[in-house]
Amino acid sequence: MTGANRGIGRAVVAALHERGLEVVVTARRLGDAQSAAREIGAAKAAELDLASEPSVAACAAALARDGATIDVLINNGAVLAEGDVLTATSADLRRSLDVNLLGALWCCRAFVPGMLQRGYGRIVNVSSGWGSFAEGMEGPAAYAISKAALNASTRSLARSLRGDVKVNACCPGWVRTRMGGTDADLTPQQAADGIVWLATLAADGPSGGLFRARQPIAW
Ligand SMILES: NC(=O)c1ccc[n+]([C@@H]2O[C@H](COP(=O)([O-])OP(=O)(O)OC[C@H]3O[C@@H](n4cnc5c(N)ncnc54)[C@H](OP(=O)(O)O)[C@@H]3O)[C@@H](O)[C@H]2O)c1
Repeated sequence: MTGANRGIGRAVVAALHERGLEVVVTARRLGDAQSAAREIGAAKAAELDLASEPSVAACAAALARDGATIDVLINNGAVLAEGDVLTATSADLRRSLDVNLLGALWCCRAFVPGMLQRGYGRIVNVSSGWGSFAEGMEGPAAYAISKAALNASTRSLARSLRGDVKVNACCPGWVRTRMGGTDADLTPQQAADGIVWLATLAADGPSGGLFRARQPIAW
């Protein structure tokens, strides 16, 4: 789980831990990952900075050295930057694509080959309705474009999977977190439900879809 130190990510790792899964709490700062892991009672914490491909590779290598097998990957960490295509800063555009899109792809490249070898895996890309063409690509440009590309990556990756390895994207809804703000509809715990569902799908569950509250939504 990336970005597991706060907000929706933290609620998801707590829920998965409660269900008996051995979770790896990652955050871009090791201390944040360790505090969150301690608070939810999880054994494993690791540093993983989505903006850095070497950081993702180093995290995967360290987990492999520890003998950890990653069967579920939740690409959750993200940033939200303001501005439209014409006004967003270059730095914000680059960072949004680095963290929200490329970071998820680096994680897939680090962890999905092992899932394919073992014949089992669940990948959840935490996306947004703001990245949906069907919902009008609302929201700040850098964020919406990065989430639309994450949605495209979901469909594209699904084509490379075989065995019981599935990838789906999930819009958590509008959630009361640092990103969602205090007026949002849902608690992080409520929003975690759809992500936990996709992370623990049975073998006859869907792959290559976009969901909100366990229901398919249009791309
Ligand atoms: N909240 C909503 O209403 C809403 C709606 C639709 C979709 N979403 C999606 O839900 C997911 C979780 O969002 P949230 O609401 O929980 O937001 P949040 O409270 O702002 O948490 C974002 C998480 O991403 C992490 N992150 C940022 N940059 C990172 C990097 N370079 N490497 C690793 N982790 C990084 C943050 O770490 P730090 O604490 O170190 O910054 C934090 O753990 C995101 O993908 C978001 O786009 C949220």
